[in-house]
Amino acid sequence: MPAAEARGIPAPVTLTGDPATVDAIAALEAASFSTPWSKDAFKASFDNEFVEISGIYEDGELVAYAVLFTLFETSDLQDIAVREDLRGKEYGKALLSDCVARAAARGADRVCLEVREGNAPARALYEHNGFRQFGRRKNYYAYPPEDALLYQRILKE
Ligand SMILES: CC(C)(COP(=O)(O)OP(=O)(O)OC[C@H]1O[C@@H](n2cnc3c(N)ncnc32)[C@H](O)[C@@H]1OP(=O)(O)O)[C@@H](O)C(=O)NCCC(=O)NCCS
Repeated sequence: MPAAEARGIPAPVTLTGDPATVDAIAALEAASFSTPWSKDAFKASFDNEFVEISGIYEDGELVAYAVLFTLFETSDLQDIAVREDLRGKEYGKALLSDCVARAAARGADRVCLEVREGNAPARALYEHNGFRQFGRRKNYYAYPPEDALLYQRILKE
């Protein structure tokens, strides 16, 4: 049994783009980001063969999701969020580990992502799970303006 399941965190599953699932993701997204993805953006991702969207259900409700885009040797973690009342309980860690396993299964040799410099919980999540900062994009984000830090985890050299 994976460690996350042993801690009572349900195993992440692959999500499909049915309307109820898109609604559930979009609601979590809107509650998590100042410039959330639209429902159409999620629908387009579900239709993209290079994208995998995974999530964690608890008591029949979607409580966390992640969007992973893989092209050739690079996987890009484009989005990840956990329902606010469940943050800090390692749901993010469980989902991130699952994304890394999905990236490896697709043959990627690295997983990359961008994060707001001031997003301390997200940076802690990445830094404690094998990701290292390798760059910065000045004023990448809006609302509020902020630099993006670029992180990557090398899966194979
Ligand atoms: C980022 C996010 C997905 C993390 O999910 P989570 O389930 O809370 O993550 P975990 O509980 O697995 O781990 C979070 C880590 O941050 C730490 N943390 C929690 N709150 C923190 C805070 N305010 N400041 C610093 N670190 C914090 C935890 O202690 C943990 O570190 P650990 O490995 O030392 O235990 C979640 O906070 C979230 O949904 N945030 C809003 C959306 C978002 O910012 N997504 C990331 C975009 S790049």
